[in-house]
Amino acid sequence: MYKLIIRPILFLFDPEKVHYFTFSLIRFLSKIPGFPALFQSIYGINDPRLETEVFGLKFKNPVGLAAGFDKDAVLYKELSNFGFGFIEIGTLTPKGQAGNPKKRLFRLKEDQAIINRMGFNNGGVQEAVERLKKNTNVLIGGNIGKNKATPNDSAVDDYLICFDALYDYVDYFVVNVSSPNTPNLRELQEKEPLTQLLQTLQNKNSTKTKQKPILLKIAPDLTDTQLLDIIDIVKETKISGVIATNTTILREGLQSENKVETGGMSGKPLSKRSTEVIRFLSEKSNNAFPIIGVGGIHSPDDAIEKLEAGASLVQLYTGFIYEGPALVKAINKKILEKILN
Ligand code: FNR
Repeated sequence: MYKLIIRPILFLFDPEKVHYFTFSLIRFLSKIPGFPALFQSIYGINDPRLETEVFGLKFKNPVGLAAGFDKDAVLYKELSNFGFGFIEIGTLTPKGQAGNPKKRLFRLKEDQAIINRMGFNNGGVQEAVERLKKNTNVLIGGNIGKNKATPNDSAVDDYLICFDALYDYVDYFVVNVSSPNTPNLRELQEKEPLTQLLQTLQNKNSTKTKQKPILLKIAPDLTDTQLLDIIDIVKETKISGVIATNTTILREGLQSENKVETGGMSGKPLSKRSTEVIRFLSEKSNNAFPIIGVGGIHSPDDAIEKLEAGASLVQLYTGFIYEGPALVKAINKKILEKILN
């Protein structure tokens, strides 16, 4: 139904407008009595065998919604009815910011991919906190970044502001230094500034009565040497794990006209590289820390591939757009099959 009827209609319109239209539609439908339960019964899956404990948190299933879809924590509750085991909000920055000029989101239909150069458009961390205060039972990851106007030298202050503001309202944190759409942000992935940033956050974390898991989200475009540095940094700062990967700036083997757009590419063509990064980190570190695998998961087999490469959990974004909400349940069913065999 989604791929046959809904997607062809949605894909006739501008992607960013469709994103907000779909948000409004899901919110509207979710207010009608009976609809949340209906969504849950169609798309949800509740099976204790899918429950997974990772970095001290209990996930009801290992399939999550990746960052960037519900940046401002507007729809996490409604989205959780589509079967996700967890929802990552953000990237949030201390102050709200408009992001890059439109048009900044492009479909690459022939490649089942997306290019985006949104540039951390968000309403600021405080607005999200107010919405998260209403959360009762959704497991939330808080993905944090820096404002565009903040120089890299003082980036750590922005991350600390977001960390403090969100502390009581999220279950885990993600330090995003891998978006290609904030100028120079990815330089923070270098060994020295990254160690300093993560250590500062960990020091702050240790002043709290209960520490929250902090994860690092990395780009797929890092070299092997940089990935080995990441392993050292995770061990040294004792953060809880890594999310691999964010979008890529590379454009290999693409067919679609829109491949010329600048920004980060996600979706099917990213799948192979992000799995390689997961496998590399997992093998070279001897499974020293958990990895959340994300990048180009468009089928249950894609998800299994990432889990077999060493991921403990997976996340989707572009596959959710191309394949529709049924993908979440399909992945969970496949995981169950694997458990049973
Ligand atoms: C993203 N992604 C992203 N990641 C992040 O850490 N912070 C963000 O704000 C965003 N924003 C964002 C916007 C859009 C439009 C897209 C398509 C993606 C990256 C996302 O979370 C994920 O890491 C990649 O998209 C790879 O996964 P998929 O999309 O191939 O499943």
